[in-house]
Amino acid sequence: MAPTSTSQPGVETPPEAVTPLMRGIAVLRRLTDADGSLALSDLERDTGLARSTVDRVTLTLARTGYVRLDGKVVTLAPRLMELGNAYLSSARLPGLLGGRVDDLAEELDESVSLAVPDGGGVRFVHQATRRRAMSLRFRIGDLLPAERTAPGTLFATRWGAEEWRTWRERRASDPDGEGFPSLPPRPRPADDLFEERVEAARADGWVVDDQLIEPGLLALAVPVRDHAGGFACVLSVVSHTSRHTGRGLREDFLPRMLDAASAMERRLRDEPPAGPSPAPASGALASWTAASKRELGREFIESLARGLTVITAFGENGAALTLSAVARATGLSRASARRALITLEHLGYVTADGRDHRLTPRVLALGYAPLSRTTLARIADPHLAALAARIQDSASLAVLVDDSVQYVARAATHRIMNVDITVGTRFPAYATSLGRALLAGLPAGELGPLLDNAELRPLAPHTLTHRTELEAALERVSAEGYALVDEELEVGLRSIAVPVRDREGAAVASINVAMHSSSRTIDECLEQVLPELRRTAGDIESELHTAARFTEVPVM
Ligand code: PHB
Repeated sequence: MAPTSTSQPGVETPPEAVTPLMRGIAVLRRLTDADGSLALSDLERDTGLARSTVDRVTLTLARTGYVRLDGKVVTLAPRLMELGNAYLSSARLPGLLGGRVDDLAEELDESVSLAVPDGGGVRFVHQATRRRAMSLRFRIGDLLPAERTAPGTLFATRWGAEEWRTWRERRASDPDGEGFPSLPPRPRPADDLFEERVEAARADGWVVDDQLIEPGLLALAVPVRDHAGGFACVLSVVSHTSRHTGRGLREDFLPRMLDAASAMERRLRDEPPAGPSPAPASGALASWTAASKRELGREFIESLARGLTVITAFGENGAALTLSAVARATGLSRASARRALITLEHLGYVTADGRDHRLTPRVLALGYAPLSRTTLARIADPHLAALAARIQDSASLAVLVDDSVQYVARAATHRIMNVDITVGTRFPAYATSLGRALLAGLPAGELGPLLDNAELRPLAPHTLTHRTELEAALERVSAEGYALVDEELEVGLRSIAVPVRDREGAAVASINVAMHSSSRTIDECLEQVLPELRRTAGDIESELHTAARFTEVPVM
């Protein structure tokens, strides 16, 4: 494989560009294309960077929480999704149109997506997928070549001579589509057919992709126009040859797709265009990078951390940012912010229109697609492992299933007296700390019927079997924020649990530490284990909230 270039082919690097930022981005791109994980030695080979540079870049990215280092392996971490979230939030499409896309998927009972153009390709910014045996494997952030997709064909109706020239060059230099790692490479289909399809799309105003992208897949796409008459995005419905023909897809769905696109256009028109944004002033980001520099010395590349911070300055209110606004939002000097913006613009992650800067969809190429299919179990795993290592007892994460708790992630220790439970195990919720932490968070209307149906059997000498006792215990859990259960499930077993909350504050899971009752007194458990447990829950929640901002994060 050719080394991942730190620069755009054929474009001269501006003298102000920040080299460490370019290198850090090259590392993130390579990890993304490798679906999220690589050995350090492979990163060194693929990027052409010196090993010492790869080490410092990955250490810096680990410090920002964007990757995890596990021995010699680097893995993208959910916090990195804050970069793509900044783009998605600033582009406002998922926020304004996502609900309608989801309703349409429900109505048509097929997957529906929104895509935007990125060079000669398209990127998905929203997906409403139906759970089917043959379901869509494209993810938010994936880049697909224009010529093999319905949305790309529509975007190409707006291409000028320059875009066609770039497209022909790309086809000549990468005939098998290796630049699109989310698709299997394919021998070159004829180019002139694409140009014919683009002509037809211009005349029709819609496009059907009949298995261009892959055998069996059908897609029908229509444009969603913006204020100025350009394409804000393309709306597609995706089906399969087992359910439709290309022609049937158009006959069944085109009128409803056109109606939905018109409704989306009205929604975009009704939303006042965001004016220049008064980005909130915050020196926190810059002072954080400075503190990391003092602590880690030359191993920490401050200009890389600062440059990525600039991306997170965009977002919330959807507006373009001036250089001054970026400097104010990040706490960086104007000179540092300017050089970071110049670098990001050079690499295609930022566009500038006069003084206004905006993020481009290419920001999603920084890890979004591989991370967007994460699960709560995967998010929790490294944090449970770190917790178990710190306190030398096993740690677990569980969810409520009816009136049971089910273990979905677990880190055991090597103690001889290990508590022997595996992922998938279920216990009655009322007799476990994991269960009580979850029951205590249920609205009264759900808890009552659940306890009505649960049989409170004595499982060990101390099991609470009276409804009133249990309810009083749950109130304490709710007031104190933790559940401690002592020899109620099994003789000699003590455990303590806290809830893990989603973005709305609902307890979606709980984590606990289980130990032999002789290993710590109850006071020691509260003094030593509880703070560690709370910190771990906070770490899991922070990643969960970032990952769940624009994607669904299933439990496992
Ligand atoms: C396409 O093949 O054109 C296509 C695939 C997936 C989508 C939309 C369009 O979500």
